[in-house]
Amino acid sequence: MPATRDPTQLAAWGVLQSHRDSLASSTLRELFGRNPGRFDEYRLEACDLLLDYSKNRLTRETLPLLLRLAEECELPQWIEALFEGHSVNTTEGRPALHMALRGSVTRSVDAGDVGKLVSAELDKMTAFVNAVERGEIKGATGKPLNDVISIGIGGSDLGAVMVTEALKDYATGRTRVRFVSSIDGVDLGDVLADADPERTLFVVCSKSFTTLETMTNARAARQWVADKLGDERAAGDHFVAISTNDKAMDSFGVPAGHRFAMWDWVGGRFSVTSAVGLPVALAIGMKNFRDLLAGAREIDEHFRDAPLATNLPVIMGMLSIWNINFLGLPHFAMLPYDQRLHRFPAYLQQLDMESNGKRVRRDAEAVATDTGSIIFGEPGPNAQHSFYQLLHQGTRDVPVDFLVPAEGSGDFSDQHKLSIASCLAQSRAFMAGRSEAEVLADLTAGGMPTDEAMQIAQHKVHPGNRPSNTLVFARVEPATVGKLIALYEHRVFVQSAIWGINAFDQWGVQLGKILADQLIPSVDNDERPSQLDSSTDGLLDYINRLRR
Ligand code: F6P
Repeated sequence: MPATRDPTQLAAWGVLQSHRDSLASSTLRELFGRNPGRFDEYRLEACDLLLDYSKNRLTRETLPLLLRLAEECELPQWIEALFEGHSVNTTEGRPALHMALRGSVTRSVDAGDVGKLVSAELDKMTAFVNAVERGEIKGATGKPLNDVISIGIGGSDLGAVMVTEALKDYATGRTRVRFVSSIDGVDLGDVLADADPERTLFVVCSKSFTTLETMTNARAARQWVADKLGDERAAGDHFVAISTNDKAMDSFGVPAGHRFAMWDWVGGRFSVTSAVGLPVALAIGMKNFRDLLAGAREIDEHFRDAPLATNLPVIMGMLSIWNINFLGLPHFAMLPYDQRLHRFPAYLQQLDMESNGKRVRRDAEAVATDTGSIIFGEPGPNAQHSFYQLLHQGTRDVPVDFLVPAEGSGDFSDQHKLSIASCLAQSRAFMAGRSEAEVLADLTAGGMPTDEAMQIAQHKVHPGNRPSNTLVFARVEPATVGKLIALYEHRVFVQSAIWGINAFDQWGVQLGKILADQLIPSVDNDERPSQLDSSTDGLLDYINRLRR
């Protein structure tokens, strides 16, 4: 595998810093003024997606320099190592082969014949989903199971929720699919409130099958079935599971024909195109699920084969490196202009922040520069009326990605033209802003006396110069959603290769889990772990008093 380096010590890093300094006084508005052909120069079309990155603070020199940095960080070799199935997840000694889930990789140097495993599992999924659709999967009382409740959290939930919501218009209507993730009993309780125990199929999705939240909900769900049907042993019939942990599935009582495999070479947040997507397949059918895989495969192949300069995930990843490390813009807002993509920001948060929120490189040395982005987002039309104010006039510049389909989803899709207009208006406003002179001219043209206009003008100035990407596609459909998944997965990998970090582990989530286990006996109890800090101790006392 390629070596791990401190990117800040590479020649291209210094050159990019000087280049950044030379650009400091140019605004996006000026750059557009100087080069009317900017859109044609700074756009990329591939796999039926258009990326307009012209509204980033860059000139003709910037991208070649960023690509030089990518070469010096051996990005092409890292991409090769990823696709060859080397153990790029170095701290856990595993490859990261989410591309195998959609057939883009069939053999792995370190994991063998993964293609065979994946296609066997897909066949199993197909048989199961078709059987559910035909009403052949029956519960303990002989009724077909078609009310699906998926139980999982993090990577075993967010991707499946995102896709199921995104592809609502493709639902077969033969099942109802809902999701439970939080340990807060309200989540499970609300879903069970109108579930029919005789027809409910629980899909327990947990790579480890030990996650506190998931297993607590799964056990409560099993008890609910047993209580409702008055039969402890029959409850297992209402469960199907996706996991790497056969032993734990045995002791939970998941029937043999109701199990789907996961593999340690697929990370949770990269797993939605595996059997972790079973709830999605139960909602939209296997044909649509396979179209989703085909879309992801198209991007995988593009990422593996396209030259760096015309490679969508590479360009998107390198632009984020430019914004984070050279322009000092650590935030990132994901703004889809299609309500069906309303869970995409939450999905992206885990994908990106759990992958690249790292402070040491692969070689265990501390990173010398920022990693990861602070990500938030919402569907654009709603976000315009909540946090866009800060994006337009706050003190921090936040780079954004707009996702905009040409056609809207749902029954009132003719309203979508208003969404398109809003999206393009917002990206223009972020880019060009509104100067004091323009504001004054507007105000006085509207009849406001000059002194009054001078008073209010500063409040109405939009500084602009806020970077954005706009990603355009025909519509939200299975293949496109697959493409978006693979695009952002690979963007994450590109960033990690530049920073020299491992995007595929997540040690940072372990400590909280261990400490929570230690504190469970202390809730409703005077028992305390030794050497507890006074804040935690005091909070426990206070909460326990309130609970009594
Ligand atoms: O919260 C951390 C995490 O380990 C994620 O990485 C993972 O997606 C999630 O928990 C769920 O884990 P599992 O699939 O093992 O239940």
